[in-house]
Amino acid sequence: MKLLVTGGAGFIGSAYVRLARRNRPEAPIVNVDALTYAGNLENLRALETDPGHLFVRGDIRDTAAMHALCRERQIDGIVNFAAESHVDRSIMAAIPFLEANVAGTLSLLEAARKAGVRRFVQISTDEVYGSLGPRGDVDDRFDEATPLAPRNPYAASKAAADHFVMAHHHTYGLDVAIARCSNNYGPYQLPEKLIPLMILNALEGRPLPLYGDGGQVRDWIFVDDCCAAIDRVLADGVAGEVYNIGADNERTNLEVVRAILRLCGRDESLIRLVADRPGHDRRYATDAGKIRARLGWQPQRAFEAGLAETVRWYRANDGWAARVCSGEYRAYYERQYGTRLP
Ligand code: NAD
Ligand code: TYD
Repeated sequence: MKLLVTGGAGFIGSAYVRLARRNRPEAPIVNVDALTYAGNLENLRALETDPGHLFVRGDIRDTAAMHALCRERQIDGIVNFAAESHVDRSIMAAIPFLEANVAGTLSLLEAARKAGVRRFVQISTDEVYGSLGPRGDVDDRFDEATPLAPRNPYAASKAAADHFVMAHHHTYGLDVAIARCSNNYGPYQLPEKLIPLMILNALEGRPLPLYGDGGQVRDWIFVDDCCAAIDRVLADGVAGEVYNIGADNERTNLEVVRAILRLCGRDESLIRLVADRPGHDRRYATDAGKIRARLGWQPQRAFEAGLAETVRWYRANDGWAARVCSGEYRAYYERQYGTRLP
């Protein structure tokens, strides 16, 4: 299968491209990414000399360009990771989320349909289901039949995109599947998200800002486990179906931060409770029974092991983090392509 992966210079997309190239060296990948602030070509350094990986700077909102790419490259399948992905940014400015996540997905669906692409996998999030009650209630988790009830602009844009994906299946017969992933963590994640931000702050002895009381619960999955699940959905997911992806790792933010401090050899005096995020969802918890039972997937990393591996990666790759924090990572594009990023 010739794949088009979008958003493949971001955190999860780049992990997916690396995994897919390892698992299926015979199947080439065209990787389209707009290289917003979140796209980083350094994440793809391991594939620089790989003839089966073609990077194209492009925007999924450009239907004509996406259509041409699908036709010229004879693309069989699309995995759509491209999105604005940070809730705090969506609270500050929601329109870019409407544009990238909703208009972008719709544009890509149109391009896929017109080009006769055989399979379209949409990468979605458990945040589309809204917020749950207190932790510990295993009957109170998101399954694929849970009604969509997004509560922040990011989640609303992802839910809207999911509806357009399903509409394309029912109206035009496009073969689609939706993967709704829980919170990912692991190497190459931008330090605007909880885990890498806290790791870098802890390593450098800076304060760790916890929103509200730190009692919000997220359900964590190591990025490579999530990518393996997405690959199962691409290969064997049934057209028109949704698959939740999660690894049964519910933790409060305070528990996560305490674990990071221990791994970094710091004490809890670095924790700072700061003003809460507006509309902060209290708890996410994902029932991934369907993908386990029907597609035979299961996660490989326990949370504690995955977190320790992630801390080791950030320690060993302080140059990557420094270039991200200074903005120098954007110069990498210039060196590769001889032209500046706007
Ligand atoms: P990220 O912000 O690290 O990467 C997003 C990538 O998309 C970037 O490389 C960016 O340049 C690119 N992009 C943005 N707008 C684009 C456009 N219009 N055209 C082409 N490329 C564009 O995000 P991530 O954490 O890797 O998330 C990837 C996907 O997974 C997103 O769809 C997100 O909603 C979803 N998701 C993420 C998580 C998580 O915990 N990170 C959980 C569930 C679902
Ligand atoms: P985040 O990584 O932004 O992911 P999401 O909002 O998509 O779940 O945040 C994870 C949790 O951590 C969320 O409850 C908000 C909280 N958080 C903090 O307490 N402090 C921070 O500085 C950040 C970025 C997040």
